[in-house]
Amino acid sequence: MFKDKTIVIGVTGGIAVYKVCDLVSRLKKLNATVKVIMTKSAAQFVSPLTFQTLSAGKVYTEMFEYLDHWDVEHISVAKSADVFLVAPATANVIGKIRHGIADDMLTTTIMASTAPKVIAPAMNTNMYMNPVVQDNMKTLKNLGYIFAEPDSGYLACGDLGAGRLTDAENIIAKLEEVLNPYKPLEGRTVLVTAGPTQESLDPVRYLTNHSTGKMGYAIARKAVEFGAKVTLISGPVNIEKPDGLLKFIGIKSADEMFEAVKDELDSIEIVIKSAAVADYRPISVADNKIKKKDGNLNIELERNPDILKYIGQHKGDKILAGFAAETENIIENGKRKLVSKNLDFIIINNIKETDAGFGTDTNIVTILDKYGVQKDYEKMLKDEVAKEILDKIVEISSQK
Ligand code: PMT
Repeated sequence: MFKDKTIVIGVTGGIAVYKVCDLVSRLKKLNATVKVIMTKSAAQFVSPLTFQTLSAGKVYTEMFEYLDHWDVEHISVAKSADVFLVAPATANVIGKIRHGIADDMLTTTIMASTAPKVIAPAMNTNMYMNPVVQDNMKTLKNLGYIFAEPDSGYLACGDLGAGRLTDAENIIAKLEEVLNPYKPLEGRTVLVTAGPTQESLDPVRYLTNHSTGKMGYAIARKAVEFGAKVTLISGPVNIEKPDGLLKFIGIKSADEMFEAVKDELDSIEIVIKSAAVADYRPISVADNKIKKKDGNLNIELERNPDILKYIGQHKGDKILAGFAAETENIIENGKRKLVSKNLDFIIINNIKETDAGFGTDTNIVTILDKYGVQKDYEKMLKDEVAKEILDKIVEISSQK
């Protein structure tokens, strides 16, 4: 599995070090070249000799050694890595890596390495849940570090909770994912729309909805992960832009989204329309703030363009997926939208259900395709829903 691959493993000081002995042995059996760097604390738990025997190679512990040959070791080890794993990773080393501290062989080498990095944390659950540690991990994730998340259970210190080094199988699966990434949409062009629209009433006020962009951004992220060239057209949201996009276009109104979609459409093969677009907008936008008066205020609204319908009418051989945000007759209404907007499939969410639809991190969806194949899903993270949607795209494109 790992033939011709060099895995550099940084081992830091925690009781889980003993589990990494097994990991090294398994990686060797999978034909990897394994280079081990140990911190001083790690060497308190297991002797470097153990890792030397298991990895069949030198174990690096010292930054400054008398040389028997001319080689700047932290640079040459860093350059040799196809992937850099830190396991177990203590709160201390995570903090150092996040803050750019390089004060020993491990932290210096990881800083000098351009290889993808996998971090497998292991520590006491209170340390793991500490907002400082969580913040450090979040920053590293945003910088592209991949985490083999710890398991939950009884820890060596007797506490119960998250913080146990995940099993060797999970770490190996992560390494495999990094070294042989699954990119079924490599090079394909995908357009995702996300977030709400804002329809101005006057210079102060607008009509909008509760969309946060979480669903659409999760789809865009997953499409990037699947290797696609992703254009994201987004209404105003407060979440971070996915990394690796080909293009990001920020819009406010449905009309602006419509224009942006039309500009992009010719160069796009796959469209996923998760934005919550306002169906109506005020007929006119007041130049000045509308003053309050006695009695009610009536605002006349006119229809916005139906962007998804337009794409369906100009679809050619594009793959087109839409959403339906429903509160009643869920499946029937979804089916109607699938047909009337000429979609390949529709993702129907019942936005009245708890933990589904707007704003939540989870969603409960039914995916219905134009051949009548219907799949009802339990509650899932929006990231997982995004994967199901992209898997459906892969399935359809393999049939075309
Ligand atoms: O952003 P989150 O907080 O994560 O919430 C996710 C979500 C609930 C917004 C998302 O899962 C969702 O359901 N998006 C579609 C919302 C919506 O506008 O649904 P609809 O049933 O009104 O529209 C059907 C489809 O037509 C949608 O794909 C929509 O993008 C599209 N449409 C609608 C109106 C319009 N004028 N133009 C459109 O293109």
